[in-house]
Amino acid sequence: MAQPARLGRGGRWGRRRLSPAAPLQATAEQAARWRPWMQRALQLAVLGQGRTSPNPMVGCVVLDAEGQLVGEGFHAQAGLPHAEVGALRQAGERGKGGTAIVTLEPCCHHGRTPPCSQALLAAGIGRVVVAMVDPDPRVAGQGLAQLRAAGVEVLAGVCGAEARQLNRAFIHRVTTGRPLGILKWAMSLDGRTALPNGSSQWISGPEARAWVHRLRGQVDAVIVGGGTLRADDPLLTSRGLGPREPLRVVLSRTLDLPPQRQLWDQGPAPTLVVHGPEASALGRQQLDQLGVERLELDLCTPLTVLAALAQRGCNQVLWECGPPLAAEALKQGCVQQLAAVIAPKLLGGVAARTPLGDLGLVDVNGAQQWDLQGVERLGVDWLWHLNNSLRAIKA
Ligand SMILES: NC(=O)c1ccc[n+]([C@@H]2O[C@H](COP(=O)([O-])OP(=O)(O)OC[C@H]3O[C@@H](n4cnc5c(N)ncnc54)[C@H](OP(=O)(O)O)[C@@H]3O)[C@@H](O)[C@H]2O)c1
Repeated sequence: MAQPARLGRGGRWGRRRLSPAAPLQATAEQAARWRPWMQRALQLAVLGQGRTSPNPMVGCVVLDAEGQLVGEGFHAQAGLPHAEVGALRQAGERGKGGTAIVTLEPCCHHGRTPPCSQALLAAGIGRVVVAMVDPDPRVAGQGLAQLRAAGVEVLAGVCGAEARQLNRAFIHRVTTGRPLGILKWAMSLDGRTALPNGSSQWISGPEARAWVHRLRGQVDAVIVGGGTLRADDPLLTSRGLGPREPLRVVLSRTLDLPPQRQLWDQGPAPTLVVHGPEASALGRQQLDQLGVERLELDLCTPLTVLAALAQRGCNQVLWECGPPLAAEALKQGCVQQLAAVIAPKLLGGVAARTPLGDLGLVDVNGAQQWDLQGVERLGVDWLWHLNNSLRAIKA
């Protein structure tokens, strides 16, 4: 039997227990048998990266009754067929009595597409192997329960950690009601983001900036504050390096925003300005005339903005704001991952700017502790990846 290529190691999600409605957990022997095919399904799932929100990334492999590969599929975009449907279509009659290996529990509800549990039954699949149960309350073990009730052999937990790592943003949104937040900044070796006179472009080199462009193409929204919009006039697009452009979001309490900004041209990507009730009438009028979408919230905070973005189907956002908003987002638990670019430059100056505003600490022992996931070199710069996913899961 051909063995597909391996994927890298995943995160810590695998330590969580499956829900009571979950099927039999694969034994070590069963997991070893199905792991290579699940790894192939995970590779297929990644092909949908950046396009599936609010849905998860899902991949599926179908084997015939003799264990030969007869179908592959992945979820390419919300609204398009789910991974199982594509793989079953490819397999056709050959899938009868075979095995479907799926990175996520098949859905059992009518959404924009019909339930995959029914499609698997209609295709005569005899065994379904999944990496993880779908945390979406509309599914939550019921898809697998339906299959079992119809006599299909069901196994779960094969490559569960990798699957949870892959869909950590979807899981975060479904379980908390807010998109997963990544906070990114670029600073000099001495921790400065700008000179006292505001000069800041560019601290990081072209390779690091290209990395940020690619990241923008994978998240659903990029968020800045009114201050960054006024100071930098950013474009906030992927420059064509990502699968698609994110929603560009500006948080402004005052709506005291310049009439000419790159973000007002929505040719490259859509823009949304979120503001509170205190926003000026002039600012509102100006945006309306420019045709820029506004969203007024009773309270304009990182938490309320994230809740609104989750409603719009965002699984993952990138905070690219200045110090005050970044600190506020951190304090409100709106950041689960940090991406800190450190350039081998010295800016000096006691009044020079730093990445974060006041976090409200009075004792260094109360400092936020982050887990270093890895450091990579981007040209002459170093990119630090950190997360606090353990704390986010406990919360
Ligand atoms: N090195 C880097 O990676 C990086 C990244 C981004 C920005 N920057 C730098 O940061 C500087 C801009 O910093 P900044 O402090 O002016 O910008 P900011 O943090 O992006 O924006 C602050 C603004 O956000 C709005 N806001 C809305 N709700 C808020 C809330 N709950 N808490 C805090 N702010 C809220 C307010 O806008 P209104 O005043 O419009 O009401 C506030 O003035 C620029 O020099 C830029 O170059 C550096």
